[in-house]
Amino acid sequence: MQFATPTATLSHPIGESLKSRAARVVPGGIYGHLDSALLWKGAPQFVKHAQGSHFWDVDGHEYIDMMCSWGPILHGHRHPVVEEAVARQAAMVDCGNGPTEAFVELAELLTDTVAHADWAMFAKNGSDVTTLAVSLARAHTRKRVILVAEGAYHGALPWCNPNTAGVLTSDREYLAYYTFNDLATVGELFAEHRGDVAGVIVSAFRHDASYDQELTDPAFARGLRLLCDTHDAVLIVDDVRAGFRLTTGCSWEEFDVRPDLSAWSKGIANGYPIGALLGSDALRPTAQTVFATGSFWMAGVPMAAAIATLNLLKDTDGLTRMYERGTQLVGGLRAQAAHHQLAVRVTGPVTMPYLKFIDEEHHALTERWAAEVAQRGAFVHPRHNWFLSTAHTTDDIEAVLHATDAAFATIAATL
Ligand SMILES: Cc1ncc(COP(=O)(O)O)c(C=O)c1O
Repeated sequence: MQFATPTATLSHPIGESLKSRAARVVPGGIYGHLDSALLWKGAPQFVKHAQGSHFWDVDGHEYIDMMCSWGPILHGHRHPVVEEAVARQAAMVDCGNGPTEAFVELAELLTDTVAHADWAMFAKNGSDVTTLAVSLARAHTRKRVILVAEGAYHGALPWCNPNTAGVLTSDREYLAYYTFNDLATVGELFAEHRGDVAGVIVSAFRHDASYDQELTDPAFARGLRLLCDTHDAVLIVDDVRAGFRLTTGCSWEEFDVRPDLSAWSKGIANGYPIGALLGSDALRPTAQTVFATGSFWMAGVPMAAAIATLNLLKDTDGLTRMYERGTQLVGGLRAQAAHHQLAVRVTGPVTMPYLKFIDEEHHALTERWAAEVAQRGAFVHPRHNWFLSTAHTTDDIEAVLHATDAAFATIAATL
């Protein structure tokens, strides 16, 4: 691929024109986490096409994609095996009067793959299944309070939206907040709400946007399991973001911890819209009583995509390659920062890394750095963790490191 001239600012005439048109007919032009206004001026907004580990914006600029569409792209854009499964299912039916064979096959595959899972239910988004998990915990225990880690993201519905516009105090009345990796704070909340804690929801690891990431302390994971068992509460692991990027099972299997429920979405269907809630037998009777549905929840195409995605992960060395490429990237970034005498922290699992400058205000340096990287043909985010995919090659990572090194040099020259 071509590297842009280091100091050039990429121009986006088509993207800018689309933004102006959108601003007239969409509130704010674009909403939510994909809004490029949250990035540097001139960041790509509209995507024209994507293939493998690369994408092209509407103005024709090519980027190595280190965000993987914020997680869903596990095997690279338009992976031929997934696309073939999609085309086969689409040629029969997608949205029907009932589910397709893929519904049963996917539930079988997930329950065979994820150790704690005896059953599966499907929806569209991560928010659907984290919310369903919370409802199930309450219905199962007949208690009210859900313990949530402070700052954790579990979706954009009223109970969990980081923004409070339009949210009622009553929407969050029965939530209490603990500190991730701090078991004592969870114990205190169990004591404070004695007899009324329905469940604890916890991310695979701490990946709150804008902050350094924090890996899970195995003792914290095991302690949470014990506290939930002691107090008859439901343990929910939110694997929406990390699912299948750390291991082929639930992310907490490495700690020998089996949650009662786990929530999945993002990477499980290589970009096709599906969420899954997996549960243990103890919760099965309750899961049968909750009315959970949506017009598109049973659609066959995303289920066919999920089957192909998961089989690819299990039948190939994709996960190992993802770890190798991630190690190459993270090692390279740390060496470059040291070489340029810049204080940065690279945190999180190597398959989902995040880089942030240590001494900065409002992410100013990290954002400038990410903008410089984008000028050179790689897309990383200054406020959110990035994602490796099985499609990233050693050449891709070398090209990314070429861009990041030049970006570090530019920043170092201005300090
Ligand atoms: C850990 C976690 N849970 C839940 C969600 C919500 O998923 P969705 O955006 O598909 O509703 C996200 C989305 O980023 C997430 O990262």
